[in-house]
Amino acid sequence: MMDHLETMFSPLKLGNITVMNRMAMAPMTRQRSTLDGVPTDLNVEHYRQRASAGLIVSEGIYPSFMGRGYLFTPGLHNDRQVLGWKRVTDAVHEAGGAIFGQIMHVGRLSDPLMLDGAQPVAPSAVQPDPTARHYTVNCPRPKRPYGVPRALTHAEVLAVIDEFRQSAVLAHKAGFDGVEIHAASGYLPMQFLSTNTNLRTDQWGGSVEKRAAFLLACVDEMIAATSPGFVAVKIAPGWTFHDVFDDDPVATYSHVVKELSKRGIAYLQLGNYGMDWDVYGTLRPLFDGPAMFVAGFTRQSAATAINNGDADMIGFGQAYIANPDLAERYRHGWDMTRPDISTYYTQGAEGYTDYPVYAETSPDKLQPVDAPPTPLSADTTG
Ligand SMILES: Cc1cc2nc3c(=O)[nH]c(=O)nc-3n(C[C@H](O)[C@H](O)[C@H](O)COP(=O)(O)O)c2cc1C
Repeated sequence: MMDHLETMFSPLKLGNITVMNRMAMAPMTRQRSTLDGVPTDLNVEHYRQRASAGLIVSEGIYPSFMGRGYLFTPGLHNDRQVLGWKRVTDAVHEAGGAIFGQIMHVGRLSDPLMLDGAQPVAPSAVQPDPTARHYTVNCPRPKRPYGVPRALTHAEVLAVIDEFRQSAVLAHKAGFDGVEIHAASGYLPMQFLSTNTNLRTDQWGGSVEKRAAFLLACVDEMIAATSPGFVAVKIAPGWTFHDVFDDDPVATYSHVVKELSKRGIAYLQLGNYGMDWDVYGTLRPLFDGPAMFVAGFTRQSAATAINNGDADMIGFGQAYIANPDLAERYRHGWDMTRPDISTYYTQGAEGYTDYPVYAETSPDKLQPVDAPPTPLSADTTG
């Protein structure tokens, strides 16, 4: 192994566990569960194949029926889903890996067709840009504009926080090593954080402190129900994906990160999705604990960020779709397989469990290990 990769392949303490290397499989929605949100044999196999990542962060999992945004995505609010996830976590652990479950409530980005006719909920009744066209590539969500959501009452906000708490309890029961709150990509926690989607004048909106209160309450409740080392958070400061906007992302996220730092959480996943300001340099120093950076990393840039002491871990998304043995390929410098975007959100094994390990890949599918990463497009990100 080359010297500059040594730290990337060294262990790291992350909350209650120690992971064997600094490579994380980033969370990716792939829509291969049952219609009622139970993980399938395909899910078990997909995650088992990728267990040589130091940490797997699961695809987004809805903590309640109202948090569901897409067909065939998994949930974690009933016994069948817990049993389904237990099969996944057992398989990953038997293969020597570790796995956090990503808790994702989509809030206003759902649709009555997904919710038995109910209107999606949000901090405020602000409709996502109806002209925006996301997920044109095979994504099983209704192909029509997002509607106007219903603003949660104060009592309902407390009830949603309790759903997050309950999902941590069930994640523990399902054998996960921890949970990661998805507070990025314009989903519910980010709808509370962002100035264009949170117009509330009660304790959940207005100042930076009040906009951050929902996320921090979820963190506190999930910690109280489990332990600080069981809870992690993902943020994407300043990203406008799904039509969220923040008047002052540096102020908002400086507050959020400082508050998270006080709580001793397992790690902070920090995404820089093409911002024109230094997300990592501005926010990483405010967090006292392990930081995972994500989006657009290559083997080289990951090793550099880790060796510089900036990041403790790097999340790799699309590279993990097509390279189940990504850790081995990076360790040895073996060629990589490029993912097929057209099967990101289809059903079945194709493009999901049929990417072979390096030794079994036909040479015409391979590209050099340090080739540029697959660009992220608004059509394909979940
Ligand atoms: C198919 C697909 C699904 C995704 N789903 C999620 C998700 O459920 N939760 C999440 O936090 N990020 C999601 N993302 C974002 C990835 O976690 C990652 O941040 C992104 O792909 C950038 O990393 P990369 O450049 O290494 O691919 C998704 C990305 C892709 C390509």
